[in-house]
Amino acid sequence: MNQLAIELNEKIAQVNPHVLEMLSALGRRIYFPVKGILSQSAEAKKLAKRYNASIGTAMELGQAMALDSVMDSLPGWNPSDALLYAPSPGIPELRSAWQEKNLHDNPTLQSYSGSLPVVTNGLSNAISLAADLFVDANDTVLLPDMNWDNYHLNFQDRIGAKLQFWKFFRTGGLDCASFREALAAQVPGSKILCLLNFPNNPSGYTPTESEGQELADALLATAARGVNVIALVDDAYYGLFFEENIMRESLYSKLAGRHPRLLAIKADAATKELYVWGLRIGFLTFSVGGAENNSPLYAALEAKTAGLIRSTISNSSQLSQKIALRALRASDFYEQRAAKAELMGKRARAVRQTLDSHPEYAEYFVPYPFNSGYFMCLQIKKGDAETLRQKLLQKFGVGTIAITSTNLRIAFSCLEVNEIPDLFQLIYQAAQEIEA
Ligand SMILES: Cc1ncc(COP(=O)(O)O)c(C=O)c1O
Repeated sequence: MNQLAIELNEKIAQVNPHVLEMLSALGRRIYFPVKGILSQSAEAKKLAKRYNASIGTAMELGQAMALDSVMDSLPGWNPSDALLYAPSPGIPELRSAWQEKNLHDNPTLQSYSGSLPVVTNGLSNAISLAADLFVDANDTVLLPDMNWDNYHLNFQDRIGAKLQFWKFFRTGGLDCASFREALAAQVPGSKILCLLNFPNNPSGYTPTESEGQELADALLATAARGVNVIALVDDAYYGLFFEENIMRESLYSKLAGRHPRLLAIKADAATKELYVWGLRIGFLTFSVGGAENNSPLYAALEAKTAGLIRSTISNSSQLSQKIALRALRASDFYEQRAAKAELMGKRARAVRQTLDSHPEYAEYFVPYPFNSGYFMCLQIKKGDAETLRQKLLQKFGVGTIAITSTNLRIAFSCLEVNEIPDLFQLIYQAAQEIEA
């Protein structure tokens, strides 16, 4: 093992040995190469006042070399800001600005320690980095039975983890008992990664405060029994909350810093929070009991994450990071964000009104609970979701997603309010025609 990895592992173990136990084999081996090209060019950046011949970029008249045909697409940007490399863990100002945004949104976090967010290539990359750091083949990953299909590709197919599922819904709400039972099966000394995503894809459900507390208590009780628990919280759709009684802070707020055997990881992204899907900017933040702010443990986890980034994508787009930073620094950022969330809320309410005013639809489909995010799911009562999807597509030109044989996902995020009643009428018509 490289000496730098050994040193990082020692720093982690000195603060909290359970976190070292949680790391995968790759997680233990990986380190950020602070010696070599990166450190020499960092030194040169500071000290080489005459000529800097250290970096693998091309310079001209003190700026990044650039083609007019490239800069023509980037009015308002200078070539160095737009085109140079970013550091592997991300631009420091963006990391701080995202941390500030998260503290603003989740005031509870002000009382608990955490790392600085590390910038990733979107949230998919954040999740795959967490998987690489903490999951080996045959490790257990616990998911709700309502989940995003990319988790399967990542944890099961790429890493070889064993997936286990808990039942997401009971009638009218979250099946917290099913979550508790799945955790109760874990023996002390074992390790489990629990992935929790709210607002949930595909259901569009965010727990009530008390359901959220039940989930957090179950994780905490499991850690207290001696199980090493990694709680990976996917906050992709954070902030799109359309009802009063639901959790406004991330579940991460209820987990951060609570127990030495409970490592909370917040995976979030500019992707949906800033409406910049293709810019590919996400973040990973760590928090565990027993570590202070600025703990060497957090520095070591950030360095290991940066090492994985350096060895795969090297760094995320500097232009994208700077665009995200400018947005976060806009004086009316929170107002702009609230206006878009309000528009999405109108769409969610239009879905609810449509379903409420057509009780006849219930013969063919009923909604699962939804209160947030981009989506809602229909439970198909007659026939199967894939047949319905095909009919909707082929005959009516309507695109939906068949998540399972019984569940059809509707992304109301893509629909104008006035299109929503018609969409559900077409689903009803298609379902009737299939039955006929
Ligand atoms: C639950 C969930 N997590 C993560 C992502 C990935 O986000 P990104 O586009 O930033 O990789 C998505 C996107 O669809 C998602 O639905």
